[in-house]
Amino acid sequence: DDNLLKKITAHAKEYGFIFPSSEIYDGLAAAYDYGQNGVELKNNIKQYWWKSMVQMHENIVGIDASIFMHPTTWKASGHVDAFNDPLIDNKDSKKRYRADVLIEEHIAKYEAKIEKEVTKAEKRFGEAFDKVQFLATNPNVLRNQAKIDEIENRLGTSLEKGDLADIKALIEELGIACPISGSKNWTDVRQFNLMFSTELGSVADDSNKIYLRPETAQGIFVNYLNVQKTGRMKIPFGIAQIGKAFRNEIIARQFIFRMREFEQMEMQFFVKPGEEMEWYESWKEKRINWHKALGLGEDNYRFHDHINLAHYANAAADIEFRFPMGFKELEGIHSRTDFDLKAHEEHSGKKLQFFDTVENKSYVPYVIETSIGLDRMFLAVLSAAYTEETLEDGSERTVLKIPAALAPYQVAVLPLLKKEDSGLPQKAREIMSDLKFDFNCQYDEKDAIGKRYRRQDAIGTPFCVTVDHQTLEDNTVTIRDRDDLSQIRVSVEELKAKLKEVTSL
Ligand code: GAP
Repeated sequence: DDNLLKKITAHAKEYGFIFPSSEIYDGLAAAYDYGQNGVELKNNIKQYWWKSMVQMHENIVGIDASIFMHPTTWKASGHVDAFNDPLIDNKDSKKRYRADVLIEEHIAKYEAKIEKEVTKAEKRFGEAFDKVQFLATNPNVLRNQAKIDEIENRLGTSLEKGDLADIKALIEELGIACPISGSKNWTDVRQFNLMFSTELGSVADDSNKIYLRPETAQGIFVNYLNVQKTGRMKIPFGIAQIGKAFRNEIIARQFIFRMREFEQMEMQFFVKPGEEMEWYESWKEKRINWHKALGLGEDNYRFHDHINLAHYANAAADIEFRFPMGFKELEGIHSRTDFDLKAHEEHSGKKLQFFDTVENKSYVPYVIETSIGLDRMFLAVLSAAYTEETLEDGSERTVLKIPAALAPYQVAVLPLLKKEDSGLPQKAREIMSDLKFDFNCQYDEKDAIGKRYRRQDAIGTPFCVTVDHQTLEDNTVTIRDRDDLSQIRVSVEELKAKLKEVTSL
């Protein structure tokens, strides 16, 4: 719900995760800055992805390409000619929209109707409820699903053909009104290119025009032979990259879901032509399992197979996540064929073939791509983690139940008293020095212990280590669990091992 997104946005600001960009000048639309806790969470997400994609795969390596690329790159990739959004204005409210998004939001209403039927039936049938059977047979569900399919098909075909008149006709036939004014008075649909451009050097003419990359993928394509040769890579192999991308989005709202400057984590997997569908299926499966293993709730994910394909793909699916605004795209898995490498061969005049020593022949490999937005992943973690709870004693708390591997801090070390002569701060510092090589730790001695626990809850620290008077007597401390609030007492000697066990790090 929208309210939840507002709460998460406010919480993220109050606790140093995300600030509006250049806020003292009232901010800049769709640009955000990651604060002291946000940057830790973001880095942990990157590291988690990098480790599982690069370090855990013998045949995947990483690169870090520059944001600026030779302008012909974007001609070859199709972005100059085809990276457009269909725009429409409402004549009365003077508000601008993406025509396809207006239609998709209309589709979401039918999806909501289906979800409502399912919830109702779940309540009625309880344990005996068979969702698959229900979805396949309930007449209301089938009617709504048919409507969704019909609209999606028509939108897909129009987008593919660039038939702008039909997109407008569809908006009119569906009776879609402007979300602000309710007016149905629309302009024609027109194309708008999403790339940001600037000039290289001091002369401002068209020959110096360069673009900020709208995806990181092209940096991988143009380097694929460099990496293949110097790394002696054999097909199938992958190249991964994390980096910024820029798009002049028309509707940039919903917090960090759609930004104009964002980060992508992409991996291009080069395969033998003809084997791409097997690899496509295999990466779909790997990536959904990766998400589910993270512990944000398995039923928060679903696949959405594309009917309308991007200009470079022959098969594509999104992994959608249940954001506060509903199910939305988190990651894309695309079978890009040899579109990009062939286009770069053509435009550069250089051969980009791989010599297969087993087959004793050369070919341009096919590519499967997995592409996830880092900021979207961040929002997914925050959305799943954000919890408001009433505790047994009637008090309330807001807690971020972030998986330990991603939390900004895994451990907070808290002396019960901050007075030096109690001996507790010294002991706590000593413990902290011993832990900080293995865990990201925060030291906090200000305010009553209960208040400090709440502060750690609010930034998602899974474990608090409290140093009290008994510590000085028997060298034991308590470990408090963020989620179930349980406390156990362990000796300082076994503290590190115990924390490794409970954080699974
Ligand atoms: N190389 C393929 C590619 O860029 P995409 O579906 O356009 O594919 C991939 O983008 C991912 O990047 C999306 O699934 C999304 O997570 C993220 N993304 C795209 N546009 C974004 C934006 N404006 N703000 C934040 N994340 C975005």
